Amino acid sequence: MAGKIPRNFIDDLLARTDIVDLIDSKVGLKKAGKDYQACCPFHNEKSPSFTVSQDKQFYHCFGCGVNGNAISFVMEYEKLEFVDAIEELASLLNLEVPREQGSGSAPERTAAQKRSDYDLMLHTARFYQHQLKHHSNSAAVIEYVKGRGLSGEIVKKFMIGYAPSEWDGLCLQLGRNKEQKEQLVELKLASEKTPGRQFDFFRDRLMFPIRDKRGRVVAFGGRVMQADQGPKYLNSPETRIFHKGFELYGLYEAKQAHKKLDHVLIVEGYMDVVALAEQGIEYAVAALGTATTSEHMHTLFRTTDKVICCYDGDRAGRDAAWRALENALPYLNDGKALNFVFLPDGEDPDSLVQAEGKDKFEQRLNAADDFTKVLFNKLSLEIDLTLDSGKAKLLSAALPLIEKIPSEFYQENILEQLGRLIGRTREQLNNRLKTPKQQHSIERKFKITPMRQAIGILIQHPQMAKSVPYLPDLAQMNIAGIGLLLRLQHQALQKEDVTTAQLLEFFRGTDDYDPLTKLATWQHQINEERLETVFQNTFKFIEDQCLNYRLETLLIKDKTQGLNSDERLECHLLMTALKATNS
Ligand code: UTP
Ligand code: MN
Repeated sequence: MAGKIPRNFIDDLLARTDIVDLIDSKVGLKKAGKDYQACCPFHNEKSPSFTVSQDKQFYHCFGCGVNGNAISFVMEYEKLEFVDAIEELASLLNLEVPREQGSGSAPERTAAQKRSDYDLMLHTARFYQHQLKHHSNSAAVIEYVKGRGLSGEIVKKFMIGYAPSEWDGLCLQLGRNKEQKEQLVELKLASEKTPGRQFDFFRDRLMFPIRDKRGRVVAFGGRVMQADQGPKYLNSPETRIFHKGFELYGLYEAKQAHKKLDHVLIVEGYMDVVALAEQGIEYAVAALGTATTSEHMHTLFRTTDKVICCYDGDRAGRDAAWRALENALPYLNDGKALNFVFLPDGEDPDSLVQAEGKDKFEQRLNAADDFTKVLFNKLSLEIDLTLDSGKAKLLSAALPLIEKIPSEFYQENILEQLGRLIGRTREQLNNRLKTPKQQHSIERKFKITPMRQAIGILIQHPQMAKSVPYLPDLAQMNIAGIGLLLRLQHQALQKEDVTTAQLLEFFRGTDDYDPLTKLATWQHQINEERLETVFQNTFKFIEDQCLNYRLETLLIKDKTQGLNSDERLECHLLMTALKATNS
């Protein structure tokens, strides 16, 4: 495992990145008063409610509520995971992401070595592209490609190439010294049956480079040109930069083709993806000769709201659909959709779309089965629902699946269908669910309490941390939010000129993050000039509340158990302090 990214690097990254430049380069911003504005890239709108603050290094959309710092923006906009977003921001600044040395872990490959892995994959893809046009078999290969209905444009878009028929075409070209040859073997572009003698892994095959979500070539799939030359498709084995279960062929290209992917279609083969793209359906992806994994589903539902799975209508296709469905359940949040299309016998998306064209094919997608239908079809197989035992069987098979679904909407919907099938009411079934849905009701409008006001002003204006005393002992008081206020103040005091964005980053992944982002976007109506005074007064109010709380505790103890001399003194001091502020 790679070591952790040091926190000070992340801090530094946020300090060096200007969120206004960053977002401006992606969506184009207009100056509006102190802030910058655009139409929100995360929802459809006609008038701009997406606001970027240079001071806070923070964005917020008043329309849909998205908000965050530069890292959040890259994660959301580029659909990247946290670490990838860090890498992306670092690469914009030409920085390498350092890693903390984990104790006892295997030595990490350096970033420089890693980059050269990706370089080598890219050079290999370019070599195959070149061979497609210039190898002595070129004419036949190009004819084959044309015969499959692919245009030069799609061939280029997908970087399709040709692995020459010689034993060592690639090795000669890109394995000029010992290290290079070793690297070719390590990346499974070459094999080494006898030590020191390497030969090409892919020979005489049409080559499909597999790109990761950032567009880097990480593996290849190769289709045979001659029927008797081994398996029809040969795929790169797993390597240090290629993990099958995580990559989807065509996802990068699909993201390139659309500003926002409304839906993604999962198909089986490389040829299906490119044939669909050729016909203008540029949102198909393929799992790489494996079932659709849970990681695939996770990636897809981060990228789009609707996933359509396309399988053969036969037994194998139905089994594959079921596995995909099971893996998708945990990602079915409200607003997400999962549909299934089963193809007629003997057809695949490639053959179908070429035969009937884009519109007809898309009609099939529009008529796709909702996943609940597939779910009940599968569960009811071989069950006799006229028998009580059959009903009980269906119920016990369905409940654990329903529990996996985060969306209450879908849970309701399925429970209702289930109830109808087995003759129970919804309420009866609801009680059977083991994990009643936790209600995370999102309060869009929240009451501003003094505590929220103090935290809100502080997260928006971190420099005010030093305008009030730092009193860590208050954390012991049983007052909602005091812990967070103190953690925030402590963090803000660590660094001169710390920004809202940097502070928020510190809390990412903790329970404090959500309340803090909410307060970071709170639109207070307080006059800027009075803000510091308001903050100090609010802070004083909270401090008094804490002291009062402590005093009350002591007075109760005095009545019940009596106080020792220290407590008596504390009591006295508290009364004096509170009197002073109230006079
Ligand atoms: P298919 O055999 O359905 O191939 O395999 P296809 O996509 O229709 O290919 P064409 O039309 O004959 O060119 C579907 C997918 O299964 C994997 C590949 O990912 C392929 O795209 N596969 C198939 C292999 O990995 N190895 C094989 O030998 C065959
Ligand atoms: Mn086919």
